[in-house]
Order: sequence, then C-alpha cells, then structure tokens
Amino acid sequence: MKPLIIANWKMNPSTLAEAKNLFNKFKNLDVVICPSFCYLDSKIRPAGARFILGAQNCHWEEKGAYTGEISPKMLESLGVKYVIIGHSERRIHFQETDEIINKKLKTALEFGLIPILCIGEKEGEDAKAIVEKQLNEDLKEIAEDDIKKIIIAYEPVWAIGTGNFCEAEKAKETLEFIRGRINNKILYGGSVNSKTSADYMKSGFDGLLVGGASLDAEEFAKIVNG
Ligand code: PGA
Repeated sequence: MKPLIIANWKMNPSTLAEAKNLFNKFKNLDVVICPSFCYLDSKIRPAGARFILGAQNCHWEEKGAYTGEISPKMLESLGVKYVIIGHSERRIHFQETDEIINKKLKTALEFGLIPILCIGEKEGEDAKAIVEKQLNEDLKEIAEDDIKKIIIAYEPVWAIGTGNFCEAEKAKETLEFIRGRINNKILYGGSVNSKTSADYMKSGFDGLLVGGASLDAEEFAKIVNG
C-alpha cells in the first residue's frame, strides 16, 4: 500500500505569502498537509492541488464560549479531512491530558474527520508502558468501528525536532507492540528526513508524520518519492 505521508507545518510559515508559495510547491504531491488554522481556507489551496488538508488540533465541542478555539465542525465545513490530536507539543505546552484528547477524538470522529492520534514516550520513559497507557486512556469508550478510523502516529518525544534519531530497529519494536494492541494504520514521526525516511518504511510503518523537513519543499519531495 502507498505510504501515507503527512506534513505537520506547526506554527510555520509566518506569512500568508510564504504559505501560498509552499502550497504551490506541494501542489502535485499526494500527501496530507496540516498547516496552521489560518491557512486552511480552501481559497488559499492552489487550484487542482492533489494534497489533502488536515488541521493540527481542534476543540472537543461543536461550538460555544471557548474564545480562540476551533471546532471539528468548523474544520469539516471548510473541507478539512484530517486532524492531528494529542501531539506532544499540545500535551506539553498546552497541558492536554489524555482525558481531553479522548474528548477531542470523539468529537472529531462525530464530524467525520480522520484523527491522527500522536503517542510516544519522553526521554528516559519506557516506550511500551507509555504508549499502552496513552492508547488505553485516549481511546476510552470509543466504539470499535470508530477506533478503526484513527491513524496512530508513534513519535518518541525526545526525537521530535531535535535531530536525535530513533533507530529504525528500536522504533520497530514499539511499532510491533502497538500493532499487537491495535490494528490501525501506524505512522512514524520524529526528526524524519530524506536520509532516514526509507528505514522507517522498511521497519513496517504505514507512513510518516514529518515536521521540520516538510517546510523544505525539495527535502519533503525526496521523502515522498522514497
Ligand atoms: P519533526 O516533527 O519532524 O520536526 O521532528 C515531527 C512532529 O512533530 O510531528
């Protein structure tokens, strides 16, 4: 099966002009791009673009008094198909708990979005114990049929944005552990670049969640084209 490659632009690029420029360079790629909320408007997306849009986060309510938040229903109405939920940067900087992540997953699924659930251990933590706990709590009381729709992104937190590579063999051990628990599409993320991407794919991951390297059109195209 064709690998699923997802670009997580995080809080980049810093202007609309730069975002449009990057979108244009990605126009012919069969990927999912998750830009900031303000770049999700379909009018910004170049005509005929092949890529699909995803958001980097959403709220757990459909609407209401939550100043500054974006709901899954709003995303759905913009034509957004995917949403990253539980990214470690949200867990760390915005105090998102597994309980919040669980609520977000439920509402995103209700509005037909495909969640990309990020899980992974911090430096020094036991990867298997952490992903097991996160899966148990994040997927709590979600129906089996809905769970199947969720894409899992295994991202060792210590490897995100650091250039500290997680050896593909090591990532594979956690991948197999997750597979023993859940039969979903599983992606790898954490400092992936064009030199390491093929190794993770060989380890059996179904795709990649790419941060930093997805802001460099040439480098990202190399990852996508294997
Ligand atoms: P990175 O980010 O590729 O820059 O490590 C990955 C992610 O945060 O999803």
